[in-house]
Formats: sequence, C-alpha cells, structure tokens
Amino acid sequence: MHTRLTRLLGIAHPIVLPGMTYVAIPSLVAAVSEAGGLGILASGGMSADECRAAIQQVRAFTNKPFGVGCSLMLPGAAACAEVAVQEQVPVLNISMGKDESLVARVKAYGGHVIATVSSEKHARSAIESGVDGLIVTGHEAAAHGGAVTSLVLIPAVRDLTDLPIIAAGGFADGRGLAAALALGADAVAMGTRLAASRESPLHEATKQMVVDKAAEDTIYSSNFDTFPCRVMHTPGGQKYTASRLSPPRVVARALRAASELNTPMGQLARDALREGPVQAVKIAYFGAATLAMRKAMHQGDHEEGVQLIGQSQGLVHDVPPVAEIIARVLAQAQEVMQALLPR
Ligand SMILES: Cc1cc2nc3c(=O)[nH]c(=O)nc-3n(C[C@H](O)[C@H](O)[C@H](O)COP(=O)(O)O)c2cc1C
Repeated sequence: MHTRLTRLLGIAHPIVLPGMTYVAIPSLVAAVSEAGGLGILASGGMSADECRAAIQQVRAFTNKPFGVGCSLMLPGAAACAEVAVQEQVPVLNISMGKDESLVARVKAYGGHVIATVSSEKHARSAIESGVDGLIVTGHEAAAHGGAVTSLVLIPAVRDLTDLPIIAAGGFADGRGLAAALALGADAVAMGTRLAASRESPLHEATKQMVVDKAAEDTIYSSNFDTFPCRVMHTPGGQKYTASRLSPPRVVARALRAASELNTPMGQLARDALREGPVQAVKIAYFGAATLAMRKAMHQGDHEEGVQLIGQSQGLVHDVPPVAEIIARVLAQAQEVMQALLPR
C-alpha cells in the first residue's frame, strides 16, 4: 500500500511506531522498521551518549529507515537532537516546540523532519517551520492527544496542507487505517496497539491489562504532567490524577527520578531553567511523572504506577508479534476498502 509517506521515506507500509518513552526502545523500533513500517525511537530521558548508543543499536538490528523522537521542551532533548543530526538519522520526529535551524540541518543531509501536533494551530506553525510531514494526534490517543478527536482533526489539518500526514490516536487495526486514509491521512501511528506487541518491553501483566480493558477505561486529565494526558483507568491512575501534586512533592519526585536515571543534576537544572520558571515547573512535573510511568510499564505496578494508554485499548484483544500486527492491519484495510467499492 503506497502513499505520500511511504514514497517520501522509502518504507513499505504506511504504519508508524510513535515515540513512547521507555517503550519505543531499539528492539521494538527495529522490529517495526524490519516489518516495513517506520519505527521511531523515543529519546526522552536519555543522555546524549545513551541516545547515540540507542541509534547505533537500531542500526545493528536493521538497515531500514527509522526515526528518532525528541520532545524539544524536555531537558536533554536538544542534546539528543544534536546526536540524531550527527548520526544522520533518516527521520527526526520533533514535538513540543519547533526549531527551523534543526529542520534545515536535517534536510541538508537528506533526512526528513516530522512534527507531532495536536491542534490546527500547532499544525500551521509546524508547516511554516518547513517540516516534511506531520503526526496529527487526536483526542483518543494515549498521552497527549489534543482536545479534538481524530475524526475531525485529521481532515481539518489535511485542509491546511499537502504534506504527508500520519494519523495518530485511536488507530489499532485495518479499519482504522482505511478510515485514516479516507480522512486524508497517508499513514497511521499506532502507540497502544504496538505497545501490546510481543516485542514491546511493557510488563506482561500490563500488556494483559491492555487486552482486558475496554475503550472507556481511560482517564484524560492535566493533573498528571500538567498537559492534558490520557492514562489507563487503574487505582494508580485514579490516585495520581485526582488532584495535582503540590510543587514541593513534584520537585522531590523529579529529583528522585533524575537520580534513579543517573541524570546529571547540573545539566538538568540548566536545561530546566533556560526556558524560565514556568517551563521549569512543567519539566519538574514531567520528571515526577516518569517515576509513576516506569512503575506501571516495567514492574506492572498499577497501585502506584500510571500507564499511558489510548482509547484504542478497547480494540486490542491479543499480544502478537509486530510483523503479525502489521500484516493483519494491512490485510484488513485492503478488505475494508474493497468492500466499500461499488459492486
Ligand atoms: C505506552 C505508551 C507510552 C507513550 N509514551 C509517550 C511519551 O512518553 N510521550 C508522548 O508524547 N507520547 C507518548 N505516547 C503517545 C504516543 O506517542 C502516540 O501519540 C499515541 O500512542 C497514539 O495514540 P494511540 O495510543 O491511540 O495509538 C505513549 C503511548 C503509549 C501507548
């Protein structure tokens, strides 16, 4: 199935693994790229050296195109983006900010920049900054989907641009891929679906919860990391989102997370303060949230942990290998599109 996106990136299938901190690790990224999709490595929480090692690991597993995701607002992101440019990664996926000079440098070596956006306003700004494509994330998505559902946001952004669009938020099967193409997208990004794949590093108990939970078993709240964020409805998710943590507790947790992750404190403070006090507080909330995320993802602890997950968990009924998920999605999309043709 060829679209503007597959042609631009030289990939076989219009299916993308979006950046997911602690989940989109080299082995999963490579599994998706090897299966003909585009795997995007999540660089959140990595030092520059860790990011370079992870890029090299992806390259050791596959010679197919892949991407590196950088949330520009977060500490360490600029250093990881720099490494991605030095390593000349095929795709740089930027979110939470824009950087025209970075875009120009990636284009100069023949790479492509894809910006993740969750509103028409951010889409306009990303298009003006010269990116090659967009991941457009609707309300249904795990984590930071926008206020508007994919059903409306994707065609609204399509009306703004001819750039390739990757639809994200609620896409987990072939019906979703066919629907995304009908809405004007050129591919789908599947976070929740691929997080519950055999190769995903998610704890086995957490994968089973994704299978067991229904579409409505999520919470959308800005109490987690200050941005509206969708998490799984669990005791931990309920506790964490019931009210926003006080600033002293957030700073304490953020420092604990940084120390557990061996983040150099001096660099962290410089990065956090560079953008001013408001951003520094947001960064502290992000840091604190990573502790809870890791408990759910890696330990399967849903009393204290918080699991980012999308409404599409209601469409996930098993935990197959990545290649099987991709083959199924493509076959079902073809079937659905065929059935829509006049007899
Ligand atoms: C387990 C998991 C972890 C994620 N981690 C992040 C993250 O760290 N930062 C982020 O911006 N989005 C994160 N996402 C969101 C994805 O990048 C993507 O936008 C979303 O999964 C798309 O919607 P879907 O879940 O319906 O496929 C995560 C998603 C999942 C399922």
